[in-house]
Amino acid sequence: NPIRRLVLGNWKMHGSLAGNGQLLAALRTGWHQTSDAASCDVGVCVPFPYLAQVESALTGSDVAWGAQDVSVHEQGAYTGEVSAAMLADFGCRYVLAGHSERRMLHGETSDTVAGKARAALAAGLTPVVCVGETLEQREAGQTLGVIRGQLEPVLALGAGSVSRLVLAYEPVWAIGTGLTATPGQAQEVHAAIRAALAAIGCAGVRVLYGGSVKAANAAALFAMPDIDGGLIGGASLVAEEFLRIAEAG
Ligand code: G3H
Repeated sequence: NPIRRLVLGNWKMHGSLAGNGQLLAALRTGWHQTSDAASCDVGVCVPFPYLAQVESALTGSDVAWGAQDVSVHEQGAYTGEVSAAMLADFGCRYVLAGHSERRMLHGETSDTVAGKARAALAAGLTPVVCVGETLEQREAGQTLGVIRGQLEPVLALGAGSVSRLVLAYEPVWAIGTGLTATPGQAQEVHAAIRAALAAIGCAGVRVLYGGSVKAANAAALFAMPDIDGGLIGGASLVAEEFLRIAEAG
C-alpha cells in the first residue's frame, strides 16, 4: 500500500485536565515517527476546551491533534459554534466532519458535512469526513448506496479540495459496540470509496476505518489494500492500546 497511513484517536466527550495530562505525556514519549514511508501519521481529536492543553503537551512531538467538529460559518452570530480559524489558532491539523454521532444526534446532513469540510480546508486544516451505514441499512442491502449518497456533496467540492482531505468509513453498527466489521466487509466498502475517489482523480486520498478498532484487530484491518489507517474511539483513551494500534499502522 503506497499511501501513508493515519491513525487518529477520537476522544469523543471524554477527558479531564488531570487525566489528559497523563495520556498526552504517554503519547508524547511513546510515539516517534520515522521518516520511513511505511510509518504512519498519528493524531488525536479532542474536546474543544482541551485544545490549549493538548497544543502545549504535544507541540514538538510526533503526535498531531485536532477537534471533533467545526462550524460551516467563518465567523459571526453563531452561539456555541467554533470556527475553523479558531481551531487553526490552537495548532489543529485535523478536524472530524460528519461523525455519525453528529449526523444522528445533531441532524447534520451530508450537505452540512461537505460545508464543514470546505470551511476546514479554507483554514488550512485537514477535514476527516466520516461516512457509514446503520445496521438497518446494511441488512436492507443499501450500504453502498448510502455511502455514495453521503460522499456525493463532498466529492462535488472538486478534486482540488478532495485531494486535501481524509475519509473515514465507520459502520454505525460497529461504533462503540465491540462489533468490528470483518476486514473483508470493511474492504468491500473501502474499495467502493476508492473507486469513487479514483473517478475524480483522487485515488491517493486516505480512507480510514473506524468502529471498535483495538490493538488485537488493527493489523488485520490495516492489511486490507484500501484501508489506510483507523479512526479510533474507545481504544484511543488508553495510551498503551492506542500506541499498539499506531504501531500496526
Ligand atoms: O470515531 C471513532 C469511532 O466512532 C469508533 O469508535 O472505536 O469506540 O468503536 P469506537
